Amino acid sequence: MLERIKTGIEGLDEIMNGGIPKGQLVLLSGTCGTGKTTICTQYIYNGLTKFKENGIYLSFEEMPQSIKNNVSQFGINFEPYEKAGKFSFIKYDPYHIEEVFEILENSIRDTNAQRVVIDSVSALGIHVRDKAELRRMIFNLSVILRKLGCTALLVSEIVPGSTGKISRYGVEEFVTDSVVVLYYERNEFAFNRAIQIWKMSGSDHSKKLHPYKITEKGVTVQSADEAFMKKF
Ligand SMILES: Nc1ncnc2c1ncn2[C@@H]1O[C@H](COP(=O)(O)OP(=O)(O)OP(=O)(O)O)[C@@H](O)[C@H]1O
Ligand SMILES: [Mg+2]
Repeated sequence: MLERIKTGIEGLDEIMNGGIPKGQLVLLSGTCGTGKTTICTQYIYNGLTKFKENGIYLSFEEMPQSIKNNVSQFGINFEPYEKAGKFSFIKYDPYHIEEVFEILENSIRDTNAQRVVIDSVSALGIHVRDKAELRRMIFNLSVILRKLGCTALLVSEIVPGSTGKISRYGVEEFVTDSVVVLYYERNEFAFNRAIQIWKMSGSDHSKKLHPYKITEKGVTVQSADEAFMKKF
């Protein structure tokens, strides 16, 4: 049977048929403010607290301290795990962006991390302007993660209004095994949030669009419910 890595996020493992197939790279894509960073921190934190799995968080955009401050409201505190060498945030140097690959690989080995987050591959584009170079870098990231057997979330930020696109550069979905899309759409009454498992290699999963919430518990998915949105 397929071994799964549970996100531990309420409702999310259910719509993934039990969790992320071990060793897969998952693209987590959505417009700004859809909760991508929240999901990523919950994924890593649940790994540390519930499943005894170590983690690495590589942030290309938001400062680690800002992420830590934002998620403290969800009861997430990485500090004891950082001190114990079970988790680390990677700080990259924008002037030596190529070095990030070596730092990532060494950090994964040093912490023996099974869970990895890259937040976000889109933000890499701020530092690497050349499209071909950028694609090569995204591909290189995937090669390192696969080589080390990590189960990873790669965040991609979609530009609002870019209907039909599930990634920023159109390459991310080809280096990943699974794709999860977050939607934030307006209907007649309010803005609604919905999540969909777009694809998942070698596994069945929910084909429906499910509502999700961001509350003091972080992200929770209403796996028994179906979301209805205008464009669907
Ligand atoms: N306590 C809370 N209750 C309800 N909603 C919250 C709460 N805390 C944060 N949010 C929502 O979460 C959103 C931010 O989530 P997060 O930073 O994870 O999104 P993101 O997709 O990573 O955004 P970005 O694209 O800017 O990186 C906020 O815009 C807000 O709507
Ligand atoms: Mg974010």
